[in-house]
Amino acid sequence: MNVRPVSADRLPALLQGMPKAELHMHIEGSLEPELIFQLAQRNGMTLAYPDVASLRQAYVFSKLQDFLDIYHTGTTVLRTEQDFYDMTHAYLARAHADNVVHAEIFFDTQTHTGHGLDAQVVVNGLHRACVDAQAEFGISASLIMCFLRHLSEAEAFEALEQVLPLREKIVGIGLASSELGHPPEKFAKVFARCRALGFRLVAHAGEEGPPAYIWSALDQLKVERIDHGVQAIHDAALMQRLARDKIALTVCPLSNLKLCVFDSLAQHNIGRMLDAGIVATVNSDDPAYFGGYINENFRQTFAALGLSAQQAWQLAANSFNASFITDAEKRRHLDRLDAHFETFR
Ligand code: ADE
Ligand code: ZN
Repeated sequence: MNVRPVSADRLPALLQGMPKAELHMHIEGSLEPELIFQLAQRNGMTLAYPDVASLRQAYVFSKLQDFLDIYHTGTTVLRTEQDFYDMTHAYLARAHADNVVHAEIFFDTQTHTGHGLDAQVVVNGLHRACVDAQAEFGISASLIMCFLRHLSEAEAFEALEQVLPLREKIVGIGLASSELGHPPEKFAKVFARCRALGFRLVAHAGEEGPPAYIWSALDQLKVERIDHGVQAIHDAALMQRLARDKIALTVCPLSNLKLCVFDSLAQHNIGRMLDAGIVATVNSDDPAYFGGYINENFRQTFAALGLSAQQAWQLAANSFNASFITDAEKRRHLDRLDAHFETFR
């Protein structure tokens, strides 16, 4: 769609009301400190932090691993199917308020089986919340299980086996956790198996890791989207490949800022990615930890980079086109997106 310019003072309302899909968020990263304390109390647990404020104060990171360590502490309060349900319901209610009409939610089971839980408890709680949110908010949601890349490929195979009885509740497979030192090719065999089983495939690559990890995710794992991918900017041939093959990047600007991937949002490369014809999208990654949900990512990124209404439309259109919904659903969302932009003429 050819979008007319919108004045800077009207852009926040345009972004807020714009229908959008969120394709990169870790459900455990939506656990707000208040909910962490509620769940700890419900499960009779004592946290290492005395209160919500002191936990929030600990959210200062200089790299991905700093965050993963504290994120792991938060996951320990999840003990029952209802806990997973409540966490997911809270996220979907919040996403709905940001006019997210479709969400593809990352989760992992390995964190929780490591705490003695059954993987099926995790999947059933998440899935039930997704089903209920469709009725309650009219939002669609699907689930992508991430393998933890700091663990072995054999452990990924085990995690896969544990959820296969619930195959129909999971749309795709991803790869998350500590990137450096754990290149995608470490998981080539298990991704090949997932592909044969009909799962859609994505992987985190090029968040902190080099462009070579993005090449490997594409060529060895055969993923359809790259999560983050911002380091691709350092490899011209890779940029061309991403644009040519319409490989979407699920970019998370506030995450990149909080994890010091960029020194400031003004230095973020998402505008340059769009200019290069890359199918970039905006996402929140771990919104409870990184300072905002998806609309806050849009708002701050547009303010810092001076992006246009045309680019807002492009980012939202990309989010639908890169999602794992049917073509008919994509069409329906894209029509609503165009109608929203018509109202801003
Ligand atoms: N798990 C949760 N958030 C993540 C991120 N930004 N990168 C890798 N793994 C993650
Ligand atoms: Zn992520």
